Amino acid sequence: MSGSSSILSAGSSLEAAEKQPSTQLQWSTRLSFILAATGSAIGLGNIWKFPYITGENGGGAFVLVYLACILVIGIPLMMAEVMIGRRGQQSPPNAMAALAKEAGTTPIWKVIGWMGVIAGFLILSFYTVIAGWAVSYISVAADTTFVGKTPADIGAMFEGMLSDPVRLLFWSTLVIVTTLFIVGKGVKSGLEKAVNILMPCLLVLIIVMVGYAMTTGYFMQGVGFLFNPDFSKLTSKSILVALGHAFFTLSLASGAIMTYGSYLPKSVSIAKTSIYIGIVDTAVALLAGLAIFPIVFANTLEPGAGPGLIFVTLPIAFGQMPLGTLVGILFFIMLSIAALTSAISMIEPSVARMVEKFNISRFKACSILGLALWLLSVGSALSFNLWKEEKLFGRTFFDTIDHLTANWMMPLGGLAIAIFSAWIISKKVSQEELGLGNGTMYNIWLFTMRFITPVGIIIVFLNALGIV
Ligand code: PFF
Repeated sequence: MSGSSSILSAGSSLEAAEKQPSTQLQWSTRLSFILAATGSAIGLGNIWKFPYITGENGGGAFVLVYLACILVIGIPLMMAEVMIGRRGQQSPPNAMAALAKEAGTTPIWKVIGWMGVIAGFLILSFYTVIAGWAVSYISVAADTTFVGKTPADIGAMFEGMLSDPVRLLFWSTLVIVTTLFIVGKGVKSGLEKAVNILMPCLLVLIIVMVGYAMTTGYFMQGVGFLFNPDFSKLTSKSILVALGHAFFTLSLASGAIMTYGSYLPKSVSIAKTSIYIGIVDTAVALLAGLAIFPIVFANTLEPGAGPGLIFVTLPIAFGQMPLGTLVGILFFIMLSIAALTSAISMIEPSVARMVEKFNISRFKACSILGLALWLLSVGSALSFNLWKEEKLFGRTFFDTIDHLTANWMMPLGGLAIAIFSAWIISKKVSQEELGLGNGTMYNIWLFTMRFITPVGIIIVFLNALGIV
């Protein structure tokens, strides 16, 4: 089943799989979807991005807004996306168009599907660079080791890596090739195993790191930073960052969840699965925060240090704790795999769309997309060294793509998906798909999608633009 196979393929027979376009294949079990969607959600967003943007945006109040966004916007929207994907049975643009047609309205809604596919692709272009840092740190932890290094040495090691474009490009290229190879080959069992075995291991390691953080003497300071809201530190911009991150961390409005939803069998409860993923994903991010901030305070580091935060704080801990080298190596291996399972989900929508449109093999689609992706990733890799001073509206290439996707494309895409799922799709269809009947849960979902999510997103936007 060469070309048309899918990473998610074939619960049914191989012949059946061969006859169907890739997006009509199905997860073999309910667990496959849960694992793959969890693998998509948990990644650098939880462990790398959440702590550093929490640090940059002042802590507790930001975390509170982020949690509210997950609960009232993220989880209901995840349900909507899975529903659209499963009902549409195609890549996001065509799924949106098919549902629009079913609802008797214009297929122009396709544009929203496209925006998601493009957002996923753009995110991946910088995501692979950061994933490259994680992969590179496996060997740093093993060879150079963090033992006996001062926080200043460890900071210098990180800066040394950033300033070397060849090293960054080497690792990000490796990540791109690996991701596309896996997606092109269609290794479903590999993906399931990776999530099934390695995710719990990652969780255990993060808990070990929280345990270490408890011994620093600064644990309560870290807890206070994360959970004691100081609203004077909250700006309209940071509210938008929290909203954008809720989308990013749950892989929303970027094609991934909608595409994975299109492989989902009818029997699975969309509501339960979405709630589960939302809870696990949030727990991992909060634990990462609990591991990192005590180390920040114990070593008088700067919480707002930016994207390098975990690459400096955690190595300090690995250098000091018993068995630190081993824990460090394992940690960066797990982090790399968590990043890989997310990266796979970001490129899958583009691959699905390309196979669907041009009827080419997955491998060919991956090769073409891989080249485009690599070219874009060069821009992000060089943003940390050669192009550090090349700025567009005050932002480097990396910052621009991050800002464009997390602060514009995802929230706007989310707004459109909420309106589409609650106002355009008929209640009959959403009731049927969500499997909640016409009960209280369904009505809460509908009310949230109809009013709370759109109004919330619009207010956050207008506020960030300085209009309200
Ligand atoms: N949710 C992933 C993370 O937190 O690392 C990032 C991500 C995956 C974003 C897939 C978008 C996407 F489509």
